[in-house]
Amino acid sequence: KKAKMVIDKSYKIAEINPRIYGSFIEQLGRAVYGGIYEPAHHTADEYGFRQDVMELVKELQVPIIRYPGGNMVSAYNWEDGVGPKESRPKRLELAWSSLETNEVGTNEFAAWAKKVNAEAMMAVNLGTRGIDAARNLVEYCNHPGGTYWSDLRKEHGFHDPHKIKVWCLGNEMDGPWQIGMKTAYEYGRLASETAKAMRLVDPSIELVSCGSSGSGMATFPEWEAETLEHTYEYADYISLHQYYGNRDNDTANFLANSLDMDNFIKTVISTCDYMKAKKRSKKTINLSFDEWNVWFHSNDQDKKVEPWSKAPPLLEDIYTFEDALLVGSMLNTLLKHSDRVKMACMAQLVNVIAPIMTETGGGIWKQSIFYPYYYTSVYGRGTALHSIADSPKYDSKDFTDVPYLDQSVVFNEEKDELVIFAVNRSLENQLLVDVDIRSFEGYELIEHVVLENDNPKAVNLLGNEQVKPHTSQESYIDNSHLTAVLPKMSWNMLRLG
Ligand code: AHR
Repeated sequence: KKAKMVIDKSYKIAEINPRIYGSFIEQLGRAVYGGIYEPAHHTADEYGFRQDVMELVKELQVPIIRYPGGNMVSAYNWEDGVGPKESRPKRLELAWSSLETNEVGTNEFAAWAKKVNAEAMMAVNLGTRGIDAARNLVEYCNHPGGTYWSDLRKEHGFHDPHKIKVWCLGNEMDGPWQIGMKTAYEYGRLASETAKAMRLVDPSIELVSCGSSGSGMATFPEWEAETLEHTYEYADYISLHQYYGNRDNDTANFLANSLDMDNFIKTVISTCDYMKAKKRSKKTINLSFDEWNVWFHSNDQDKKVEPWSKAPPLLEDIYTFEDALLVGSMLNTLLKHSDRVKMACMAQLVNVIAPIMTETGGGIWKQSIFYPYYYTSVYGRGTALHSIADSPKYDSKDFTDVPYLDQSVVFNEEKDELVIFAVNRSLENQLLVDVDIRSFEGYELIEHVVLENDNPKAVNLLGNEQVKPHTSQESYIDNSHLTAVLPKMSWNMLRLG
């Protein structure tokens, strides 16, 4: 099969905000205990953080990490997680029916984030709590000193403020599973008043209003419209969350899900801009896609987990090769919307629906989805470019006109590099893509990295990694045209300079 693309330096979408390569650590399952924190582990540092985990997180160059939830935050008392560890209470963690020992809390997380060169993105509890707890937490984290909460932070051993910039106003407050779920009116009112108080404490913070928990919610996009009526003035971003799964084992249909993600983003942009017009506002609300991934493999096994255990193995999806292809396309979708998607978090980072897996007390490995995330995060920096593409298409159960070629293009002016990320969704055929690179005269192909596998269900396990990238020598440049040879069912990065 053959496809065409035209790329030009002047077809700019926007400067890419590195924060779109963010991730998420929820106080859930083995993300924290046995994941980032395990004092008895042979690689643990003096604070109990696993250094093998830190190394892989740093390799991904994750710029921002959301914490502490997720569903968990909606019944969380942040005060439980600060101060001397021996006096922190053990609690029933209601969102995931686990035991929360609170050995790790806000300060530990902020310190860990710093160590992995990431900024922390905090969520406040708007389920069981509200304005007071949120404004106290901002004071505790960000105020320099001389007040009750900021001095308490110092007493707890953290002299300097954490200076946390981004704050989520609750989590998935439209979801019936959420503790303290709200109607759009209730949420809109509470979120705007909470935002007002938090900003009074620290005017430099950036705030994220809760959007729908997914495009499939019955209240989407009315939820966005009604909540923004209240939060528009206070929020800088609205959140989007979306997970996909291949429950019917229909790979062609599964790989097309990034079209749904694209549609979701477009609808949220339209709703934000409708509200902008309605309010005669000069301000534009941007998008924070702060939970996205594949999530379904672990659903059944999670039902069997013993309740109220500490750090149970929850949401431990073992990702297949085909999952990595969809993750690659989801990253392409974020890049194509760089003008409005200014933050995004792959959910999550370690052990819980994660690119990085560990054995408690043991080793560490990279899941299949690690690779598209790694390459896009490391090389997808600079300016996102439009690419005019003409690809053969297919129809699947839920989608029509699905292009076999899914692509995004980044121009890194600083490094003088042009990077193409491309997925070939075809299960049977290689795709020959003729790319007109007219304004990149003299550029040569630095490398063509390919992730391919004959088995869509191939997985990586500790000590047995079946899904790994390799470089290809098949693609070439001739006369300002790149011929990209994309194997069937493959994720690709072509780097030119
Ligand atoms: O990331 C797992 C869960 O998915 C989060 O806790 C919640 O926000 C979403 O439903």
